[in-house]
Amino acid sequence: CKPAMFLGIQGSDGRKPEDTSDEPGVYSASNGVPIPHAYEAQRVGREGPLLLQDFHLIDLISHFDRERIPERVVHAKGGGAHGIYRTTHPIPDLCLNNLFATQTECPITARFSTVGGESGSPDCARDPRGFSIKFRTEDGNMDWVFNNTPIFFLRDPAKFPHFIHTQKRDPQTHLTHSDDSIHFWDYMGANPESVHQFLYLMGPRGIPASWRHMQGYSGHTFKFVNKEGKWKYVQIHVLSQQGTKNLTNEEAAEQSPDAHQKDLFYAIENGDFPKWDVKYQIMDPADAPSSGVNVNDLTKVWPRDKFPLHPLGEIELNKNVANYFAEIEQIAFNPAHLVPGLEPSNDPVLQSRLFSYPDTHRHRIGVNYQQLPVNQAHPKHIPTNFQRDGGMAFYNQGARPNYISSLAPPEFRSRQVDIDSVHGDYEGHAIAFLSGVQEDDFVQPRAMWHKVFSQKDREQTIGNISGHMSTCKNQDVLKRAISVWHQVDPELAEKIAEPLGLKGKYKTDLRGEVFNGSHNFLGRNMDE
Ligand code: HEM
Repeated sequence: CKPAMFLGIQGSDGRKPEDTSDEPGVYSASNGVPIPHAYEAQRVGREGPLLLQDFHLIDLISHFDRERIPERVVHAKGGGAHGIYRTTHPIPDLCLNNLFATQTECPITARFSTVGGESGSPDCARDPRGFSIKFRTEDGNMDWVFNNTPIFFLRDPAKFPHFIHTQKRDPQTHLTHSDDSIHFWDYMGANPESVHQFLYLMGPRGIPASWRHMQGYSGHTFKFVNKEGKWKYVQIHVLSQQGTKNLTNEEAAEQSPDAHQKDLFYAIENGDFPKWDVKYQIMDPADAPSSGVNVNDLTKVWPRDKFPLHPLGEIELNKNVANYFAEIEQIAFNPAHLVPGLEPSNDPVLQSRLFSYPDTHRHRIGVNYQQLPVNQAHPKHIPTNFQRDGGMAFYNQGARPNYISSLAPPEFRSRQVDIDSVHGDYEGHAIAFLSGVQEDDFVQPRAMWHKVFSQKDREQTIGNISGHMSTCKNQDVLKRAISVWHQVDPELAEKIAEPLGLKGKYKTDLRGEVFNGSHNFLGRNMDE
């Protein structure tokens, strides 16, 4: 009893999951019994009540009543397609995994998404984009759950639910930050380390023109591990071969709500398959302390002049899904789905994500979500373990005893390198993780403002920020946020403040300020 292979793209046993069938078939109830007509409700006489014995009608309506599963708590609106990953520049000295160590390829499924909006929300929102890829490798499934920005709003995972709640509807008014941005700016003013990502978001790359014209970034540091058990820190970049295109607020307002879904679907339908180059930045752990980069802090980028990009491979999306719900809504990406040769860093946000995704999948899809066709592993690695039963157990591992028995013990394959060589040595007391604001938090946004943005970008960004802030009516919240912008650039803050009537009314010095839920290390030693 092997699971059905997904769409035949895995080499396949030839079976297709039923929901990808295009054939009309014979109309039947859920138990497969043919029913003469779809509208055939049984009733007593011409005007009488309906009959409880009418399994067909009850079957129809009760299934309809249960059609919705919870949408993703974040990244609810999205779309995707199937395709292929190819390694073009193998790295056998850096990574032991076959996929990257040799010139090989594997089937993939990608999903793109906005972050804050609900399932029906517009594709062209000013919001980061998710960029997830499921690689069906010969060593099992590996997921890259990336964003289109190389940085993130926070480095303390405990802030994530709070931050996300500020992007969601207000508990009382039920309005989003497009109509009332108080929570959006309250968060930024109270968590200044988020300013780098806020600037990126409000800048020229805040609204991608399409999913085909945007990049994917690991954001977090990962590790490549080689056959000798030696590892290096890496950051992964997935760069569009279509080029980068973005929209202004005005251009975005003219787009249809599902513009990006439509763009991707019809590009693939017309044979215009989008492609991305996969590249990586690399750092020897011995160089990390003197690199000027905190590898565990994803509010910052690794400067490309110090850490250039190296080519690795290419992805191509070339097959539309046959059934959106089965292949996109039910797909479960998980940053903990890693294969030998790729390991997580100690970034606390990444470490928390390793827990969060499978946890939400058990809630959103159900405990046996890995058995759904789109989530199944490569046929070489149909799971053999002792996870049995549970709701909708479709592939229940047959007659084999469900403990490690002497009767049918599984084969255990040893690790290619020792577990202790891929992780460092750590010891210490339990301490509170202090994610305080530091001078360093403003260096990269300042460089982005002065060196990366053009004069036109700067003017548009100021308009984007003050326009968005104008829906917040709380002056204290606005002043706090503007004083954070001031740390990036005084002129930027002044130009934002002017149309809001707050010129000269905000603090210019954050030293000594107390931030909500944060720690302020500005102007003093972190060890104090
Ligand atoms: C989706 C949690 C940070 C990228 C999700 C989901 C959860 C979640 C619960 C919904 C998953 C699902 O229902 O399938 C978290 C937590 C974070 C965090 C707790 C920090 C503590 C990040 C970061 C990135 C990211 C830093 C990117 C670098 C994504 C993407 C998706 C997603 C791309 C959509 C996956 C898909 O297409 O199905 N996140 N997230 N998240 N997250 Fe995160």
